[in-house]
Amino acid sequence: TEYATILTETRGRVGWITLNRPEALNALNSQVCADVVAAATAFDRDPVIGAIVVTGSERAFAAGADIKEMESKSSLDMIMGDHFGGWAEFAGVRTPVIAAVSGYALGGGCELAMMCDIILAADTAKFGQPEINLAVIPGMGGTQRLIRAVGYYKAAELVLTGRLMGAEEAERAGLVSRVVPAADLLDEAGKVADTIASKSLPSVFAAKAALDAAMETTLAEGLRFEKQAFAGLFDTQDQKEGMAAFREKRAPSFENR
Ligand code: HXC
Repeated sequence: TEYATILTETRGRVGWITLNRPEALNALNSQVCADVVAAATAFDRDPVIGAIVVTGSERAFAAGADIKEMESKSSLDMIMGDHFGGWAEFAGVRTPVIAAVSGYALGGGCELAMMCDIILAADTAKFGQPEINLAVIPGMGGTQRLIRAVGYYKAAELVLTGRLMGAEEAERAGLVSRVVPAADLLDEAGKVADTIASKSLPSVFAAKAALDAAMETTLAEGLRFEKQAFAGLFDTQDQKEGMAAFREKRAPSFENR
């Protein structure tokens, strides 16, 4: 499929989505939202795909929601238009998504990265929620997911001042899974994605769903969810295969992957 604002590619069992609006540092307008959601949900439905990578350019993962598109909108326009509603669908895909971030991940760009399950950052990456400088606030999860990632005080400082932070600080704070040299970013993202895609899909989906539950629910509810999901996997052929392979000291050969 051809998209207006992104490039897509399947490599092995991994679906790649590359944001491609270089003239606007990959600013997220409504077309980007529609394209990313369409591509991600298509990969999610494809039984061959076991992981998705979302990336931008060397200079920018995404510099935010498109300010020029939003500038003239009224409050009612923002509510009724629900330009960013599609992102909830992206955040809800069952396939693990890896954000490979180089350069700016600001505002909606940082929020897009936080909708992913793993954030790999080039040492050149810069994260921030600078919306306050535009007299607005984060609107795609920045006040909620950032707190869960880095804690209240770090998130509050970033959201209230608009300060950007580099890759090292972001990793220390817990926003980034791992920092890698910029030149290795896509290779590393590919390796992580290949690794995930080599596992048994039902266990991968269950793991993502349980991790998501931890972000959304109380500990007691999350533990109940985990217990159910864990038990459910014991009716899969792959669980028998995985444990037999361990006992027989050989590599597992999963049927659902
Ligand atoms: C629209 C953008 C853009 C954006 C950059 N551009 N960011 N267009 N929306 N968010 C455009 C610029 O206008 C310019 O186009 C081109 O991309 C290159 O950007 P420059 O500013 O010339 O580059 P540079 O001087 O290197 O500065 C990079 C930058 C700066 C520091 C990242 O572009 C910047 O501050 N961008 C805005 C960051 C931001 O405030 N993001 C939060 C947005 S609000 P032209 O045609 O002029 O050359 C948000 C809300 C989310 O995300 C919630 C929604 C529900």
